[in-house]
Amino acid sequence: MRHTDKSDFELRMERLHLQGNDKMWEIMDPKNNQMDPVVRKMIERLPPGASVFEYGAGRGRNAIPLMQSGFAVHVQDIWGAAIDDLIATASQLSHSILASKSHAAEHELTDSYEAFVCIRLLHFLKPEEAWTVIENMQSFTYPGGYNAFSFFIDQTVHGPEFFYPSIQELEAYYTERRWTVEVQSEICPSQPGESTNGRVMYQKSMLFRKPEMTGSESLRNASAQKVGEIL
Ligand SMILES: C[S@@+](CC[C@H](N)C(=O)[O-])C[C@H]1O[C@@H](n2cnc3c(N)ncnc32)[C@H](O)[C@@H]1O
Repeated sequence: MRHTDKSDFELRMERLHLQGNDKMWEIMDPKNNQMDPVVRKMIERLPPGASVFEYGAGRGRNAIPLMQSGFAVHVQDIWGAAIDDLIATASQLSHSILASKSHAAEHELTDSYEAFVCIRLLHFLKPEEAWTVIENMQSFTYPGGYNAFSFFIDQTVHGPEFFYPSIQELEAYYTERRWTVEVQSEICPSQPGESTNGRVMYQKSMLFRKPEMTGSESLRNASAQKVGEIL
């Protein structure tokens, strides 16, 4: 499937590409870079064959190894060229992958999943769009399932109109609904080669787990837990 209907975002990315500033394209390449460590931690916890939805999957740095690990992966991205590249990589590996081209906040989920992955996407979204995505991730996760994030915390990356979650706010959005914090990283600088305009970007990763029980059962056990491994 070749995508021809280009969003403003894609046109911007193409301009950067023409200017030779296509670092993001290289960083997203599953051949150049390994999957995000928080995704690896999530894989250790997932049952075999679990279903995983990845928002803003790019060229498949996380999705391709997830697929190769035997999970049923559905990817989403706004950038047609990235999605086409990911599908081509999957087919070279004789795998098929479900892929959607859409705006993350407008993507309508029709199924639930054992896990959602959202790596380095939030700073491309406006706050209200990001909260819509996070709300959907929570609602469409099966009980006992996972939500994995890596996000930048430094507003200077794209500008203050985009979403750089407060760690406390994001954590509260989960623990108030009795999700547990399974894994979190220290705040760490991105690799030097990954900086935007020469700036170092600081990122944080978090893995949350949805409670197994729901409804009145869960109210009887309503103590928001915070366990947590440091990545
Ligand atoms: C920094 S890349 C990260 C890609 C991948 N998650 C990874 O870790 O390699 C950000 C991705 O978000 C996608 N993106 C940007 N805005 C988006 C939106 N509104 N909806 C969906 N995806 C979007 C970009 O096309 C790009 O693939």
